Amino acid sequence: MAALKFREGTEADADAVCNVFSDSFSEDSINKRVFPATSAGARASIKDWLGGGLKDPHSRYLLAVNDSQSGVDAVVAMAKWIAPSAEPKAPEAENWAAKMAWPDDVDGALGTDFFTMLEQKHKEHMGSRPHWYLELLAVRKSYHGKGLGKHLLSWGLERADKDGLETYLQASPAGVPLYRKYGFEDIETVHVSKADYSEVFMKRQPRPSQQGVSS
Ligand SMILES: CC(C)(COP(=O)(O)OP(=O)(O)OC[C@H]1O[C@@H](n2cnc3c(N)ncnc32)[C@H](O)[C@@H]1OP(=O)(O)O)[C@@H](O)C(=O)NCCC(=O)NCCS
Repeated sequence: MAALKFREGTEADADAVCNVFSDSFSEDSINKRVFPATSAGARASIKDWLGGGLKDPHSRYLLAVNDSQSGVDAVVAMAKWIAPSAEPKAPEAENWAAKMAWPDDVDGALGTDFFTMLEQKHKEHMGSRPHWYLELLAVRKSYHGKGLGKHLLSWGLERADKDGLETYLQASPAGVPLYRKYGFEDIETVHVSKADYSEVFMKRQPRPSQQGVSS
């Protein structure tokens, strides 16, 4: 495989990050209902969410890029990290899923319930404590098992350790083994019966920076 490079994302990467998300989550049972690949409207919703995040100063996207590929397909993996912030969320960013105009050909009720639940659990678990938050980690299927998830995770964990802060995330079933391996502990599991899916809420305590982020 060609050498991969890592860089932070910019607004120009909106289509690339949407493509990585859709490819990597294509087998995920929530994603299949809320963002089905067949729906043009679902694609627009993903772009609102992930493309919009590229404009947010607290969101840090780390991308893995294969320079031997051209255009948007060069981006093969992504992490969306939210840096700690002293400021509360802007009111328009609160309850975004409930305000979303979900397209008719997706399960918008599930989208609203699921993403509202994630937002409520985040507040419940972390309150106003500053922390690093991994909102999303996605690696294209053909790049799984090559260490990209670990690298994109380590990038944020190193910053959390340097800041002496906790790291928080919500894990899909596919993500749980990786996160447990790199020091995250389960806080709570919520079963979403409609999609026969379990989301695991996890956090990791900071470690002295010089210890690195080994498992
Ligand atoms: C979860 C995901 C990000 C992992 O990315 P990846 O690049 O394949 O993972 P890596 O190759 O970096 O694996 C890192 C380590 O975790 C372990 N690991 C990863 N997935 C694992 C699994 N399903 N079961 C057991 N171990 C696993 C690897 O063995 C590896 O161990 P090592 O560091 O000792 O070599 C990727 O599978 C993915 O994008 N899945 C779909 C989207 C998704 O669900 N993302 C998580 C959202 S919370």
